[in-house]
Amino acid sequence: MCGIICYVGKDKVKPILLEGLKRLEYRGYDSAGMAVQFGGGVELYRAVGKIIELEKKVQDVELPGTCGIAHTRWATHGEPSEENAHPHRDQAENVFVIHNGIIENYHPIRKRLEKSGVRFRSQTDTEVLAHLIALSFDGDLSEAVRKTMSQIEGTFGIAVIHRQRPNEIVIARRGSPLIIGVGDGGNFAASDVSAMVRYTNQVVHLNDNELALLTADGYSISTAQAKSVTRVAETVEWQAEDAELNGFPHFMLKEIYEQPDTLLNAIRGRLEPGEGVPKLGGIIPVWERLKDCRHLVIVACGTSYYAGCVGRYVFERLTEIDVEVEIASEFRYRKLNFPPNTFIIAISQSGETADTLAAIREARRKGAQLLGIVNVVGSSISRETLAGVYCHAGPEIGVASTKIFVSQLTILTLLALLLGRHQNLSLTEGVEAIQALSALPDQIKKVLSYDNHIQAIAEKYYRCSNWLFLGRKYQYPIAQEGALKLKEISYIHAEGYAAGEMKHGPIALISPAMPTVALAPRDSMYEKMISNIQEIKSRKGPVIAIVTEGDEKVRELADEIIEVPPTLEYLYPILTVVPCQLISYYCARFLNRDIDKPRNLAKSVTVE
Ligand code: F6R
Repeated sequence: MCGIICYVGKDKVKPILLEGLKRLEYRGYDSAGMAVQFGGGVELYRAVGKIIELEKKVQDVELPGTCGIAHTRWATHGEPSEENAHPHRDQAENVFVIHNGIIENYHPIRKRLEKSGVRFRSQTDTEVLAHLIALSFDGDLSEAVRKTMSQIEGTFGIAVIHRQRPNEIVIARRGSPLIIGVGDGGNFAASDVSAMVRYTNQVVHLNDNELALLTADGYSISTAQAKSVTRVAETVEWQAEDAELNGFPHFMLKEIYEQPDTLLNAIRGRLEPGEGVPKLGGIIPVWERLKDCRHLVIVACGTSYYAGCVGRYVFERLTEIDVEVEIASEFRYRKLNFPPNTFIIAISQSGETADTLAAIREARRKGAQLLGIVNVVGSSISRETLAGVYCHAGPEIGVASTKIFVSQLTILTLLALLLGRHQNLSLTEGVEAIQALSALPDQIKKVLSYDNHIQAIAEKYYRCSNWLFLGRKYQYPIAQEGALKLKEISYIHAEGYAAGEMKHGPIALISPAMPTVALAPRDSMYEKMISNIQEIKSRKGPVIAIVTEGDEKVRELADEIIEVPPTLEYLYPILTVVPCQLISYYCARFLNRDIDKPRNLAKSVTVE
């Protein structure tokens, strides 16, 4: 998705913008650009392709300016081209604007402006903003942006500079995240904390329908109705090193290897071993109502959705609560009719996914109470929910989600355990759960120690163009997640199926050319999974089985074995997903894919 980074202050802006753009690369983009105020004018540079192309254009240019805006574009309206790249400008080249989101009524506005003689240079929806702001400008840039906001429909996070307003940046948001970074000697704005984390950890979140004026000395926030807003900066926990490779060839591998720590961060300070009860400070505001909840709906997209699907089984195992899980983009079209005291849990790494946001807004309208499981502190979902639990996993840069999935599974388990212990779950079971959770970081390390073995398996099979992932109960969503990981980073076609569905269709696909990853830890589904593996073997399909340490039965049947240490049935997903991630990673590596930035994908999907 598109990314924004801006700076105004005492330092030269060019290197700050380039650094910020590089840190936004992981979001996915196809072109980039920057506009820098300099010598009474504004210099504009844009390039198609990677940031390095833009860098080549500006590397020999002397640009002493200290105020500028920059953008990575992910094409929606108009092909990826230099003219369609941001910043966009008005005809007189006074106003320069960058924009994340979609202007829904750009077409009639464009027609109207063209009729009045305005010439457009691009095919983008964004360009109307530059012309509208220029037309409304009478010396006050904030006012011009405010007037423009009242004319446009859709979603936007924008940053604007004007040739006649040196050292001023105006930003505004409706639906697309924008964060102010308060620095020493200058101020930043970005769509994502990681773009400015090298310079500051003091951030201020802009709310929908607010705008802000940034100068070198400060920032002032106001609403679309011109009411001034006071909001102090918060400290973000992320460090600059979190967003660096630290010797790993890819962020995805680094993040897979961070999972023991991710899990520790998710449980740190949240366990009361003697009582068998977790402590979750984030849900205290709703606890009195939540503890009596009997109906829960989990909404999410993609990998976060699969975490929710595992969560359903965990809640059913540990609590008395009825749980539904819905893909957020479909949830909105349901006829929603919630029993009293229904809670919705939105799960989202970014906290900005447009479909998940739309789903919770619809649920709120229908009377449900909202909780969030989110990684990005201060993100839209975290602010629109009544309460929730943060993942505390640090930034996830690889587009394919790995460590946050493990974090989401852990937090869902903590929440289910907490509610279960206030319902029928015994002290013994609570204590057992906490002991098993505490053992997981070392157990993940053990799975990671099989890295070379898993790499060798990937080397043997990466040329196969169709794969099947099979699991039952807790392992069914892991089969789906395993298939999603393989698809998105290696572009190999893969299906994740409930193993019981095999004989209802997919078994027709089995052949020596189609490997099956069979998730068969020693749980209540083990014997049934063995039958599935036998069915595949009798049709000469290669089987890569993920099993519990010491398993001899499956070893005799399967072509390849990957072991995970023993744990409780409902915690196995946290271990079995790790080999699936590594298989995908190594297949993608053997195929020379762009692992951290797979084609067509974006890290934060802020359009519906
Ligand atoms: C897959 C992946 C996506 C996200 C999905 C939801 O590896 O990362 O499927 O899980 O786009 O994103 P969040 O969790 O930010 O709402």
